[in-house]
Amino acid sequence: MLCEMVVFKDLSVGLMKVVYVLIVFVTGIVIGLMSSSHVDRYFTTQPYSLDRIRASASLDSMYKSSVTSDPNCSIRSSGVGSCVTEDCLSMESFRFPKNLSHRMTDEELFWRGSLVPEKKEYPFDRMPKIAFMFLTRGRLPFVPLWERFFKGQDVRKYSIYVHTDPMFELGVANTSVFYKRQIPSQAVKWGSVSLVDAERRLLGNALLDFSNERFVLLSESCIPIHNFPTIYKYLVNSVYSYLDSYDDPSKYGRGRYSRHMKPDIRLRDWRKGSQWFEMHRELAIKIISDTKYYNLFHKYCTEDCYPDEHYMPTFVHMFHGSLNADRTVTYVDWSIGGPHPKSFGPKDITDSFMKSLRNNGTTCSFNKGTTPVCYLFARKFNETALEPLLKLDPEVLGY
Ligand SMILES: *[C@@H]1O[C@H](CO)[C@@H](O)[C@H](O)[C@H]1NC(C)=O
Ligand SMILES: *[C@@H]1O[C@H](CO)[C@@H](O)[C@H](O)[C@H]1NC(C)=O
Ligand SMILES: *[C@@H]1O[C@H](CO)[C@@H](O)[C@H](O)[C@H]1NC(C)=O
Ligand SMILES: *[C@@H]1O[C@H](CO)[C@@H](O)[C@H](O)[C@H]1NC(C)=O
Ligand SMILES: *[C@@H]1O[C@H](CO)[C@@H](O)[C@H](O)[C@H]1NC(C)=O
Repeated sequence: MLCEMVVFKDLSVGLMKVVYVLIVFVTGIVIGLMSSSHVDRYFTTQPYSLDRIRASASLDSMYKSSVTSDPNCSIRSSGVGSCVTEDCLSMESFRFPKNLSHRMTDEELFWRGSLVPEKKEYPFDRMPKIAFMFLTRGRLPFVPLWERFFKGQDVRKYSIYVHTDPMFELGVANTSVFYKRQIPSQAVKWGSVSLVDAERRLLGNALLDFSNERFVLLSESCIPIHNFPTIYKYLVNSVYSYLDSYDDPSKYGRGRYSRHMKPDIRLRDWRKGSQWFEMHRELAIKIISDTKYYNLFHKYCTEDCYPDEHYMPTFVHMFHGSLNADRTVTYVDWSIGGPHPKSFGPKDITDSFMKSLRNNGTTCSFNKGTTPVCYLFARKFNETALEPLLKLDPEVLGY
């Protein structure tokens, strides 16, 4: 026993030496790993754009240079050269994203946009907003009309997003409601899946604002045919989303289906509808969260298929039909036939015509009942119609 104790003591002194050496050794490894991962961060980002490396470098310098610049931590900015201003973690910057520019990829954007709070009560007074999302190549000729529509309205009730050609500058006055409302955009080829990408990009950006509750897609030739309070009340009180989705047996409908989509999408699931949707936040999140069905359209809805007329109508019909009113709130006149709807010019703009667009003598379903208000927006208006529209008595459209 005693003998063993002595041996054990000796052993324990030896052990302590070993432990000491081990600690030194492990510390060395940790330091080594940390510095090499630091190096990794800079060198493995090479496949990304140079901009990213610059951004992360200037982010680092930002943290060093201005941690104490704003005690409330709403905005931090780097003093030196690079001019990067970045929101940091604060409720303010979270609720009111001030700067729509970001460097997120679509994949990153859709992931962020898909986040849903588990906690149902908001720690702030949440006023539901309508996101007006404009999809256009270039100019928005009806800006003066929209300005009139938004004039004097509660800014907590709406937000505006504009997707243009990537290099296009909207060029509006700094007093305009459209000022600095362009989102990071990518080139869109009409009739290709890039159009669906742009729609989802608009949704993703608008979803970053947790107060946005309804999302309406508009083109440069769309105008509102009711005033803001009417449209706001209508949409905020709607249980359903307004997305056109119907079965068209002709070659312009079922004819565009590809059998390669089987078994995930069958011919009887295939739907068509106008791309100009209006939807609730819940449905918007479902749409940007989908990868599987989007990929099928990306791959197989190509030649003469027009994914923008089929992806959302089909996806929503298959999985979220109970959220959809299966109709649109954007009026369009297809009566002339052919691939393009009728375009309205100066001669069309009369009091009675403009009022007739709102329902044309019919009623429409609304929640569990009906309403005389079928349409809230209308297209397509030629830019030459702007002057006569601005000259209309405000009583006609209500704004
Ligand atoms: C910080 O926030 C408080 C309360 O919102 C405000 O009174 C104060 O002026 C703010 N300070 C700065 C430097 O912004
Ligand atoms: C917005 O962010 C972009 C890049 O993220 C930056 O270049 C720009 O200066 C920012 N604008 C403002 C007003 O903070
Ligand atoms: C808006 O632009 C005008 C000139 O066009 C300028 O004088 C004014 O300072 C600007 N206001 C803001 C808030 O940037
Ligand atoms: C309204 O309905 C009438 C008859 O149903 C039709 O001839 C006319 O084109 C419609 N007008 C519009 C603007 O839809
Ligand atoms: C608008 O109308 C003008 C004159 O009628 C025509 O030249 C032009 O192509 C039209 N624009 C669109 C976008 O329809």
